[in-house]
Amino acid sequence: MKILVTGGTGYIGSHTVLSLQEAGHDVVVIDNLINSSDEALRRVAELTGKPAAFHRTDLLDEQAVDAVFAEHAVDAVIHFAGLKAVGESVSEPLKYYHNNLVGTLNLLRSMDRHNVRSIVFSSSATVYGEHNAIPYVEKMEIGANNPYGRTKEQIEDILSDLGAADGRWHIALLRYFNPVGAHPSGRIGEDPQGIPNNLVPFIAQVAVGRREKLMVFGGDYDTPDGTCLRDYIHVVDLAEGHVAALNHIAERAGVFRWNLGSGTGSSVLEVLRSFEKAVGRPIPHEITGRRAGDLPAFWADATSALADLSWSTSKSLDQMCEDHWRWQKNNPQGYSAD
Ligand code: NAD
Ligand code: UFG
Repeated sequence: MKILVTGGTGYIGSHTVLSLQEAGHDVVVIDNLINSSDEALRRVAELTGKPAAFHRTDLLDEQAVDAVFAEHAVDAVIHFAGLKAVGESVSEPLKYYHNNLVGTLNLLRSMDRHNVRSIVFSSSATVYGEHNAIPYVEKMEIGANNPYGRTKEQIEDILSDLGAADGRWHIALLRYFNPVGAHPSGRIGEDPQGIPNNLVPFIAQVAVGRREKLMVFGGDYDTPDGTCLRDYIHVVDLAEGHVAALNHIAERAGVFRWNLGSGTGSSVLEVLRSFEKAVGRPIPHEITGRRAGDLPAFWADATSALADLSWSTSKSLDQMCEDHWRWQKNNPQGYSAD
């Protein structure tokens, strides 16, 4: 198939382009490079031997999106493009609602005009909000508690309404848990701009000497070691989950929801210990106050993806940390130093 990947130069997008190409698909990428570098795609091409067609296009520019569909006979879309920093979405909600919602509406309208009606959407475990019991199951009532999460929830609603209104659409809503790690080659990985918001990229920058120490946000939660539990998933497993979802919806119309997670929680200190093992030395850290908005613990019920897609995670926390560290050590400044 010919797959259009929006946000394909980003962290999860670039790994998914690689998995798609390895599965034999042709790939077209749209990205405005607001949070990524096209160097990622050059390196994916180096690894697969197959360059993806790249369009530096903003989803907010509907005509430019139309031009991409006019140029390529696309069979299906994987939609990653969006802004994703929870804290920034609280301080700049209009920027988030505008970019994520209008960008998605432009994409869907353009797809409809060009008779492309298969889409895999990057949703997030954040849609489960703060009131659901763990583990999270797809059939639970959703309700995000921050503007970023609400953009994901609202896009899920738009896609659900679309699927209900028009039986020609094939829609997969994928709720990711916490993606970490990098391709085992160490050539592509996560390259956050500025101070990393997320745990593993922060630990990696401490390990490589770009930051002094990790602040562990809260050591007094009601969890086995007092730190929060999350469901970490290797980005290569996550990328393969997209290929599996795409194969499933290629055969079936309708709206499908799947958690992509491992089904187990790991604590902040367990992640730190695993990363220290990968690096081979202790990583400076300090236990400090809780971060506003953090939930003590959540993880996926991962049974639906296994049953429907024959997909489950295969890589351990130690592999995630080893691969993340290989990428960081070989590319201390991310893509910018080349
Ligand atoms: P990323 O920032 O690396 O990738 C997103 C890409 O979208 C970037 O390359 C960015 O330049 C591009 N983009 C943003 N707005 C655009 C626009 N208007 N037009 C064109 N391109 C645009 O992030 P990621 O971690 O790879 O995440 C990919 C998707 O997965 C996002 O939708 C994110 O919300 C979702 N997600 C991520 C996580 C996570 O922890 N990384 C968890 C759950 C869900
Ligand atoms: N943490 C620290 N120190 C740091 C960064 C994080 O102790 O410097 C802790 C957090 O308090 C949390 C855990 O590490 O307990 C994981 O935090 P992340 O920020 O890496 O991940 P979150 O679970 O908070 O959020 C992530 C994504 C969201 C997404 C959510 C659910 O950032 O976009 O997973 O998928 F919505």
